[in-house]
Amino acid sequence: MKTSFTPGKIWNDTDGVPIQAHGGGILYINGIYYWFGENKNGPTKQGGVVGFTMDAIGVSCYASTDLYHWENKGLVLSAVNEPIEHDLHTSKIIERPKVVYNELTKKFVMFMHIDTKDYQYARVGIALSDKVTGPYKYQGSIPPHDSDSRDMTVFKDEDGKAYLFHSSEWNAKMYIGELESDYLHTAGIYTKNFEKDYREAPAVFRRQGKYYLITSGCTGWDPNPAQYAVVENILGPWKVMGNPCVGSNAAGTFYGQSTFVFPVVGKLDAYIAMFDRWNKHNLGASRYIWLPICFLDDQMIIEWHDEWDLSSFG
Ligand code: GAL
Repeated sequence: MKTSFTPGKIWNDTDGVPIQAHGGGILYINGIYYWFGENKNGPTKQGGVVGFTMDAIGVSCYASTDLYHWENKGLVLSAVNEPIEHDLHTSKIIERPKVVYNELTKKFVMFMHIDTKDYQYARVGIALSDKVTGPYKYQGSIPPHDSDSRDMTVFKDEDGKAYLFHSSEWNAKMYIGELESDYLHTAGIYTKNFEKDYREAPAVFRRQGKYYLITSGCTGWDPNPAQYAVVENILGPWKVMGNPCVGSNAAGTFYGQSTFVFPVVGKLDAYIAMFDRWNKHNLGASRYIWLPICFLDDQMIIEWHDEWDLSSFG
């Protein structure tokens, strides 16, 4: 029985196999947490714009009721071997998958960064499923807000509106835009944020009427200082607050990069920040760093813990 989180250690699923869900996100539905992420269980190759890359495999899904034990639900969206032009061809990039549920269409909607190895294609791919564990049917990709899109995430608000956050203009700005009610298109209302700041790896959440956004700088697989921002209107203007991480290695985000933040259901004011600790020489061996977030009013603090559990939320 696992009863704690051990950031940076190998995390196995319930079959005793290391979890493959990088750049991931969590969806809580009907008492179960689903963790979607990049399956990187293949050889790392030299190349790509950031030096190390690999063939795309697809998106995995794991399920848990307690956040400690994760059952592998398999590849819910797979890369394809042909045709080579396909967005999901193994030669492409499938990164940072996030899934939200659309109450109107009753579909699970998966968003992901689709790219070519040179990161010139820069689109958001969308896939749909009637069941949370898939299989997800690929719908194609869009250049959201008629612009390029690399690291991205989707945030579904309490009123059912969903927003796409994407690094655009070669990562110089973070675009934030509303999605149509079916979540399949951008609605046209969007803002350009953190101009010339070059932020990526967005992880957004809502707490006590405010929105928080953690991002990283742009240094590929290598760590850099995280930064967070706070706002009352999700479209901005966001107030930059600084690095939420404190303690040793805080300047390198504990050798991690943000990917998602989610609330722990049934606990008050309990949020877990998810980071990837990339291993660029062996991407499939990249590890997970999950840490609890502390708040002092709207100030956010993330401290390192070798081991912690949900009781730390009180
Ligand atoms: C990072 C990005 C990752 C991945 C990596 C390599 O900057 O956040 O998702 O794309 O670069 O390209």
